[in-house]
Amino acid sequence: MVRVLFVCLGNICRSPMAEFIFKDLVKKKDLSSYISARSVATSFETRGEDMHIEAKAKLDEKNIPYIKRRARRLTKSDYQHYDYIIGMDESNINNIMRIIEDDPDKKVYKLLDFTNNTRDIADPWYTGNFTVAFNDILEGCKTLLDSIIKKYEIETGEENLSTAEILKKINNNIYNFTKITPNEFHVIEYLALASRMLEIHMNISAFENSEMTDEEMLPSLKEYNKEINEYLFRFKK
Ligand code: 4NP
Repeated sequence: MVRVLFVCLGNICRSPMAEFIFKDLVKKKDLSSYISARSVATSFETRGEDMHIEAKAKLDEKNIPYIKRRARRLTKSDYQHYDYIIGMDESNINNIMRIIEDDPDKKVYKLLDFTNNTRDIADPWYTGNFTVAFNDILEGCKTLLDSIIKKYEIETGEENLSTAEILKKINNNIYNFTKITPNEFHVIEYLALASRMLEIHMNISAFENSEMTDEEMLPSLKEYNKEINEYLFRFKK
């Protein structure tokens, strides 16, 4: 899992909007089993509050689902749990650094750092402009997601592979899985997944030795390829 934590001052306007916009983009690419998102504040001011009513209205207007939530503040231990800590503006970054103290793994970014035009996301709590905030956050979330997909070489299932190409990929990925050395905590999970890989391998051999045509095999092969990619992904990093 790649874990993303969005951060703003109050955790009621920008960062929850980013959380739900980002989750929606992830879901539409069918990547929810690879990438997760949450959001927090840097201040205690709004602790326990739900998302701002105008932030909700903007998400409703764009048909982006969200759930009832309670604002909470970033803690030092969040640093270990998340892979990306994404602030909305420069003052968020300063406050994040004050709380986590150090960023040895280079996890802290500003959301619009992923675009060609890095800048702050103006706080709609003060500007009253939720449209500008939404558009900037959407741009940042799209580029952040592209960057994660590229970095972790996640397959998005958008490519049109032939049966021969997908078989080659599956075999290659199964081979890559056998080269993983799981640590002591993950060895049981690794063995369970290896056993599932073997089962998939046997099923595919059965397909190949049957009278099935390439077109008939393709949907199952795509499912298997996706499943195997998820297993490989769990042991990446
Ligand atoms: P946000 O906006 O950081 O985008 O959630 C704010 C919401 C509330 C407050 C400040 C900023 N406040 O001070 O209550």
